[in-house]
Amino acid sequence: MDIARTPSSPDGNIEMADAAVEPHDPPEIRREDYRPFPWMVPETRLEFDLGLESTRVRSRLTVARNAKADASPTIRLNGDGLVPTSVKVDGEPTRAYTMDGDDLVLTLPGEAHEIAIETEIDPSSNTQLMGLYASNGMLCTQCESEGFRRITFFPDRPDVLSTFTVRMSGARDQFPILLCNGNRTDEGEDGDTHWAEWHDPWPKPSYLFALVAGDLVARSDSFTTMNGREVELNVWVRDGDLPRTEHAMESLKRSMKWDEEAFGREYDLDLFNIVAVSDFNMGAMENKGLNVFNTKYVLADPETATDGDFDAVEGVIGHEYFHNWSGNRITCRDFFQLSLKEGFTVLRDQLFSQDMGSEPVKRIEDVRILRLAQFPEDSGPLAHPIRPDSYREISNFYTATVYNKGAEVIRMMRTMAGEEAFRKGTDLYFDRHDGEAATCEDFVRSIEDGAGLDLEQFRLWYSQAGTPKVSVELTHEGEEAVLKLRQTVPPTPGQPDKKPMPIPLKLALFDQQSASHSGEKLVVLDTESAEHRFDGFANKPVLSINRGFSAPVTIDRAIDREDLVFLAASDNDPFARYEAMQDLMVRHLVAAVGGKLSEEERNRGGASIAEAMGAILADPDIDDLMRGELMSMPSQTYIAEQMELADPGLIHAERERLKALIGSQLSEPLHRLYERAEQVPFSLDAEAKGARKLKTMVLAYAAASDPEKAAELAAHQYDRADNMTDRQGALMVLTGLEGVERTNKLLDFYNRYEGNALVIDKWFALQASSLHPKVVEHVKALADHPDFTLRNPNRVRSLYMAFAGNPQGFHAASGEGYKMIGDLILELDPINAQTAARFVPPLGRWRKVESQRAALMREQLERIAKAEKLSRDTYEQVSRSLA
Ligand code: ARG
Ligand code: ZN
Repeated sequence: MDIARTPSSPDGNIEMADAAVEPHDPPEIRREDYRPFPWMVPETRLEFDLGLESTRVRSRLTVARNAKADASPTIRLNGDGLVPTSVKVDGEPTRAYTMDGDDLVLTLPGEAHEIAIETEIDPSSNTQLMGLYASNGMLCTQCESEGFRRITFFPDRPDVLSTFTVRMSGARDQFPILLCNGNRTDEGEDGDTHWAEWHDPWPKPSYLFALVAGDLVARSDSFTTMNGREVELNVWVRDGDLPRTEHAMESLKRSMKWDEEAFGREYDLDLFNIVAVSDFNMGAMENKGLNVFNTKYVLADPETATDGDFDAVEGVIGHEYFHNWSGNRITCRDFFQLSLKEGFTVLRDQLFSQDMGSEPVKRIEDVRILRLAQFPEDSGPLAHPIRPDSYREISNFYTATVYNKGAEVIRMMRTMAGEEAFRKGTDLYFDRHDGEAATCEDFVRSIEDGAGLDLEQFRLWYSQAGTPKVSVELTHEGEEAVLKLRQTVPPTPGQPDKKPMPIPLKLALFDQQSASHSGEKLVVLDTESAEHRFDGFANKPVLSINRGFSAPVTIDRAIDREDLVFLAASDNDPFARYEAMQDLMVRHLVAAVGGKLSEEERNRGGASIAEAMGAILADPDIDDLMRGELMSMPSQTYIAEQMELADPGLIHAERERLKALIGSQLSEPLHRLYERAEQVPFSLDAEAKGARKLKTMVLAYAAASDPEKAAELAAHQYDRADNMTDRQGALMVLTGLEGVERTNKLLDFYNRYEGNALVIDKWFALQASSLHPKVVEHVKALADHPDFTLRNPNRVRSLYMAFAGNPQGFHAASGEGYKMIGDLILELDPINAQTAARFVPPLGRWRKVESQRAALMREQLERIAKAEKLSRDTYEQVSRSLA
């Protein structure tokens, strides 16, 4: 299997913008160049003779001219690193084909033909983890986006739908379990080998193909659908992991039920399989009837998984299951339409998790992710619309923008339509496009028609990148409150001028005295500026705006600190309360970092924040999960986002200072809270989860204000922990401190969980993301640890993603952090290009960082750009970051 991918003809469906391909300049694929494929492939038959080092693949495709496309005398079958060992047309061997780059091009005279091709591949040398690869002695596949072409020659594009029949055979002792999409139709034995035949009745694009062969065991269960169809469910894992699959199975059943109730979607096969694999580039994959998952999103029990891990398993299981309709029954015409399935499916999994747990807490978490991952993307060199216009490597567009902003855009439609009308829109969408490869435009039109909305101007959200900023001003004249709104959409690469977009803002006007308002209103700002007048206010009301985060924008509001304190204490929208608290802290920190506050002002500002937080600690009307959210400090990344040029060192220092101030001023109530939370016995219900969240939160504040006390408390929490949340929380705090307990507990943790890869990942990640001043040295040493390997993406991410997201390490003034990430990218690129390219964006933020560090960041990008051989993935990200 090739390592550095050849840059030629990455995609047959779109004409190349530039035919002259430099080794360093892979072609740009453009959305506007889309053309339907001239051929249909009604039937695909595949035969696999499985072996870890050598797998033979025989394909038989029936092809017929596509009346809806321009006729072509040739058919292009995409390949990536493949050599055909035999090619037949209509049963006759032929040499009448050419290789165009890695693609195989055949001339076909008639209306319909049968093409049969044989290839041989080596799964064990496939370190890219795309196509068919070996993991832990088993074989599995990942085909989205363009992995199928690493298995066999095929029109590897999502608008070619085919019915797949697959026969797989292999050594019975090595691969006792043989799985594929659809239903198993036959099986048999032949000496030491055995075989199975699978048929998937639903036509699908090649990116949804999957195959798994290995020594696996299943937790089995069943689900009866709303129309009485009995579905067999299996969660397949390695022997020994079975006890950790209960939560995944329960999450799956809840997902199936929820999709029936919330979206009217019923499952459509008799079997649903989930397989957990430990080497996986992403979270999971929605292959039809055979979802393949990163173990991280399947395995969970209280001893080894945190509350956050439990929630993530539920969310990802839901996400992949929901794709069965939003992705599989209706797929994408081309990968520019990725948000059609991803944005919508993220929204669906968010709504599912909201319904399973705490709605406001889930909303706050989702907004936090958006701000942490998507806002920086939207304000940097890699900014792109949720429906991109061009790419060189599509893997680079599985982004927070396509996924999370994509979800926000659809959520806005839901907010404007109302839940019921929105459901009419999605019903119409599923009805109208079932069985098709659709576009974002198809989705928007369905919502328009079904929900009765006019989304003409709203479509700008699909084509314009950048996070809009809304400036808000409220004045009071006589009995009237006057609201002035103004929007700007910042320029982004390739899009210097923007048009105003419709921005739905939920708002309420509070009467200070009664702490109440007369009803939430929805205002859609669809012009550059607008004025709204509200009658009947004898006194100036307090404005609560963008409630529930109704639009993915930044709000720049002229508001007094007292009003923010009021909202933080009294707003009946939990998100708005959280937002007011965040705003209080962000304003203070931005001013402090900017050198705008005297010593005395800093202390006074901090004290008033602590006071507002004190009210939250004491509020009997909120649950502890929500209290934990209200107590959390804005991330360093989010603070940096609010500044023209960020100085990571200063931001860190001011943030720690505020944390210490809050910790000491509220020391007594925080410890009372801790003692109360300590009394709550372990369970997975909201109350107990809330208690655990508070305990670690208190430790974190104490670590800043009274490190010795914090270390003592954390060591105690670690020792008596009967679950991973408490244990990891305690260790996280200890890892950031000096002292023997740090060393002791890290060692204990390692010894306790040695051999459990997911927990050892946590051990790496905790150290790489710690606040310890020597974190750079620690990470260097960990890279040489015998358990560290570049071959496993989870392990790579646990050390280096954690590090790249840790300003204390990554932004070390010496530039060492940048160099470590630069070295990593260069070393990882030939092994796993997709994962390597994911480390470029942190360096790409250089324009927003103070000049000395910026130069050091840029230096690394330039060094990478000069490398002799670079994958398409990394090349694209680096060149965009330097442009
Ligand atoms: N469709 C998968 C999901 O559920 C992710 C596939 C990612 N593919 C890639 N080439 N990065 O979100
Ligand atoms: Zn997805």
